[in-house]
Amino acid sequence: MQTKQRVLTGITTTGVPHLGNYLGALKPAIAASQSDQYDGFYFLADYHALIKCQDPQVLHRSTQEIAAIWLALGLNTDKVTFYRQSDIVEIPQLCWLLSCMTAKGLMNRSHAYKAAIDDNLQQGDHDQGISMGLFSYPILMAADILLFNAHYIPVGKDQIQHIEMCRDIAARFNKVYQPLFNLPQAMVAHGEPKILSGLDGRKMSKSYGNIIPLFAPSDQLRKLINQIITNSLKPGQPKDPDTCTLFEIYNAFATSTAVEQMRQRYANGIGWGQMKQELFEYLDTYLSPARQRFEHIIQDPQYIETQLQQGAVKARQYSQPFMAQLCAVVGITALDKTLATPREKNVVKQAKSGDEHSSILAGRQKAIAIARQREAEQMAQVQAELDQLLAAIKNASDPQAAYAAQIQKLQQAITYATNKQSKLLRKKLQLLQAVVL
Ligand code: TRP
Repeated sequence: MQTKQRVLTGITTTGVPHLGNYLGALKPAIAASQSDQYDGFYFLADYHALIKCQDPQVLHRSTQEIAAIWLALGLNTDKVTFYRQSDIVEIPQLCWLLSCMTAKGLMNRSHAYKAAIDDNLQQGDHDQGISMGLFSYPILMAADILLFNAHYIPVGKDQIQHIEMCRDIAARFNKVYQPLFNLPQAMVAHGEPKILSGLDGRKMSKSYGNIIPLFAPSDQLRKLINQIITNSLKPGQPKDPDTCTLFEIYNAFATSTAVEQMRQRYANGIGWGQMKQELFEYLDTYLSPARQRFEHIIQDPQYIETQLQQGAVKARQYSQPFMAQLCAVVGITALDKTLATPREKNVVKQAKSGDEHSSILAGRQKAIAIARQREAEQMAQVQAELDQLLAAIKNASDPQAAYAAQIQKLQQAITYATNKQSKLLRKKLQLLQAVVL
């Protein structure tokens, strides 16, 4: 029986995690994995990585490294389910069922996709370099989440929209078929999560090339810390800790007592060379046990693989039967089985007596008559709007161009319309297209 609330999060397997990633995502997730409050699902999103990375060597290596990092940091794989997305064959399977439940217009509104299009707006082809993978990325993410019916999804602010889309898709499935999906919630850290600065003082980010990799070997760590930009104050001159990247990093890792002492030493004018040396020693000591475990684990890909395989077995105990249920619910199941549709069940429950049965029938017929009437009214309105449109087109200085513009306008409106609106709009388009000017 499912009792605890499920927390689920995926880590795209590209790039090298850095100190900022550690503080923002890894450290809290590892802490949560030790707690008994939630049932944790943590996975390596290697199918998501394919969207960004087409170098097989890099993708394979990244997946190894990121798995090793999680294990080295002490992820408790007895308590949480730690697995690789591509080992769960039900994920791409569910992704397809969900794709058929997702309006294209919903995906058109995705921030990530819109940002990619905006970059292209200057050029002729808006879709330049945009794969279907990038376009439908939120559906794959919805499959990750819904397959395990997770309740909470710890994510960064940039991912909130994807969780909302996941809820939309789940709600649609629940409505069209049966209410099998829980609607998940994004779990965003309280307040403004502190973003760590990088070597040049801007936010630490791979795209700025200013990162300190989490498990940089000691000599590289020292070199990188020496590159951190400071001002030109001399030793002995008082310095402001609150505008200093060295202090910021120290503050993020050191104990509060150590931080207070360091604040005093800034006031007393600690020299930059000295501060860099102390930051290096602190970080090196702090990271060294996990780094040693990492170096050990990364030498043993078999161990990593075994951990993931065990995780996959655990995950599939849930995903396999659930996927079979989902397939049956949409009508994909063994042909010698009879499907019980929810509608049939309702009829059986309601039609207790002959009288009740006939009153249900009468009610249904009335509903059908009302729906027909409404449809006729709507069609009359569509026809009236169409007549107006045609009159305007005929009066235009260039009727052909006006006609083409109207068609395009309608097509666009359909893309962004809700299901209900789009039915009428499509009818209007169809009628307009049938007109010979
Ligand atoms: N898209 C997420 C990211 O880039 C990674 C991810 C994939 C994910 N599937 C997920 C996160 C499911 C949470 C839940 O950060």
